[in-house]
Amino acid sequence: MAPVDSFFELVQNRRSIYTLSKESTIPDSRVEEIVKEAIKWAPSTFNVQSTRAVVLLKGEHDKLWSIVKKHMDQVPLEEGQKNYMAGRIKGWNASYGTVMWFEDQDALHDLGEKHPMTKPLLTEWSDHSSGINQYIAWTALEAEGLGANLQHFNFHPGITAEVLSTFSLPESWKLKAQLVFGKPTGGPDGEKTFEPLEKRVIVKT
Ligand SMILES: Cc1cc2nc3c(=O)[nH]c(=O)nc-3n(C[C@H](O)[C@H](O)[C@H](O)COP(=O)(O)O)c2cc1C
Repeated sequence: MAPVDSFFELVQNRRSIYTLSKESTIPDSRVEEIVKEAIKWAPSTFNVQSTRAVVLLKGEHDKLWSIVKKHMDQVPLEEGQKNYMAGRIKGWNASYGTVMWFEDQDALHDLGEKHPMTKPLLTEWSDHSSGINQYIAWTALEAEGLGANLQHFNFHPGITAEVLSTFSLPESWKLKAQLVFGKPTGGPDGEKTFEPLEKRVIVKT
């Protein structure tokens, strides 16, 4: 098997898994190692390395999802949506851990000062880079038998503010996403469907 085949095997193995338990398939130290490897090797604009991650386990994971629940309970939603959201939050809370992803705005600011031409695009590039970091960790955790799903409770200013204060994080860290993980109790929601590659990839020679 060519090395790229084993890479794509891991790529194909990564799916969004929502049925997760409060158990892990690997020691906490291995989760930490995986997140550190992802952060270390992921590419970033001018190698700025602005991605930050916080791994929440046990009571700390529970704390995050009670913050999300508290704020989401205040959001006016119709009955069906409210019940749906409550069920989803219960599921995230019942998972083993969460990796919270941030982008350090101070690091990006310094890069902008050093290379003024990059300033208008730094936010976009930092989002690209954050996604790459998240993807590596997501794929690696699932390669270790865990399931994971990616959430975005960064749209709510109350949640982002309380996350920073509860976990004593710097104000310059901008919350981007939450990767929830745990031992899978089921598979992905369904077969993955694909748009025709012919319309998505163009090769010109
Ligand atoms: C940038 C990005 C944002 C996403 N946001 C969410 C999200 O907020 N909540 C969620 O449940 N899934 C989210 N997903 C997961 C996608 O819905 C999922 O990756 C897609 O349906 C394909 O399924 P798969 O992950 O099993 O391949 C996100 C994925 C990406 C790449």
